[in-house]
Amino acid sequence: MPTSSQAMPIRHYLQFTDLTADEYAHIFQRAASIKAKFKAYEKYQPLTDRTMAMIFEKASTRTRVSFEAGMYQMGGSVVHLTTGDSQLGRAEPIEDSARVISRMVDLVMIRTFGQDKIEKFAAYSRVPVINGLTNEFHPCQILADIFTYIEHRGSIQGKTVAWVGDGNNMANTWLQAADLLGFKVHLSTPSGYEVDPAVVGVRSPDSTQFFKDPMQACQGADLVTTDVWTSMGYEAENEARKKAFADWCVDEDMMKVAKPDALFMHCLPAHRGEEVSAEVIDGPQSVVWDEAENRMHVQKALMEFLVLGKV
Ligand code: CP
Ligand code: NVA
Repeated sequence: MPTSSQAMPIRHYLQFTDLTADEYAHIFQRAASIKAKFKAYEKYQPLTDRTMAMIFEKASTRTRVSFEAGMYQMGGSVVHLTTGDSQLGRAEPIEDSARVISRMVDLVMIRTFGQDKIEKFAAYSRVPVINGLTNEFHPCQILADIFTYIEHRGSIQGKTVAWVGDGNNMANTWLQAADLLGFKVHLSTPSGYEVDPAVVGVRSPDSTQFFKDPMQACQGADLVTTDVWTSMGYEAENEARKKAFADWCVDEDMMKVAKPDALFMHCLPAHRGEEVSAEVIDGPQSVVWDEAENRMHVQKALMEFLVLGKV
């Protein structure tokens, strides 16, 4: 089956740095066009008869629905696997799973724990592998976030994104994106929850500024964004995190010091009253529902690119 994808070198999307700035420009333009077709009820099925395996080792709402609906809309189909209902949960080696699964499908999306797992799967896969979230990165989400920014405000180049909260998979991916696409991140994380520069990789010194005080990080920002205090896989730290993160709640005071037209984003799911106040997430500067919807449109463009190349 995976025939035409075999003719091209395999491209994986395991972290934000796997595509170039030019390729991102292409994908954003394709996402806008694919979204317009969707809104006009116009059929667009470039992936007819293609199949994607979706492997989930952690829970998901948006990632599952956006990939699954997106693949069907493009004419393809999906196979949904979890640790509990496959041999993945019974310690079949990742290499063997990758060899087998990738002989039967055209694309694989994986949500798992360590980045090393997805890297290993990709190394043994005959078809492109997409990171649907690991402990270290969430590139599809940042792809959607930047597309959403562009839709609302135009190019993100030269702009300032304030990250308020955990130095987690989302923060790491924002930092990679800032380097690649030429914007700045103001990062404020509680002590002990900083990003690990070794995970993020080589960076230009100008693209990040660190702030102890989250209010200062938001000063003059074009976009303020945050995420849960406790990510999936870190639940045992929940109580300690609740204490450490108490001042890292994006509220109206933080939004007031950002630019007057600043946007608020959150990858969701959100906890109102923890990392964000209800007034902010449900307020006029919040674009979280567009952000969630755009997961589907950008991922359709990404899948099209990985399977068919630049169309
Ligand atoms: N934002 C995001 O990835 O959501 P899910 O965990 O619901 O997939
Ligand atoms: N940082 C969060 C994102 C959820 C979409 C997590 O990893 O749980």
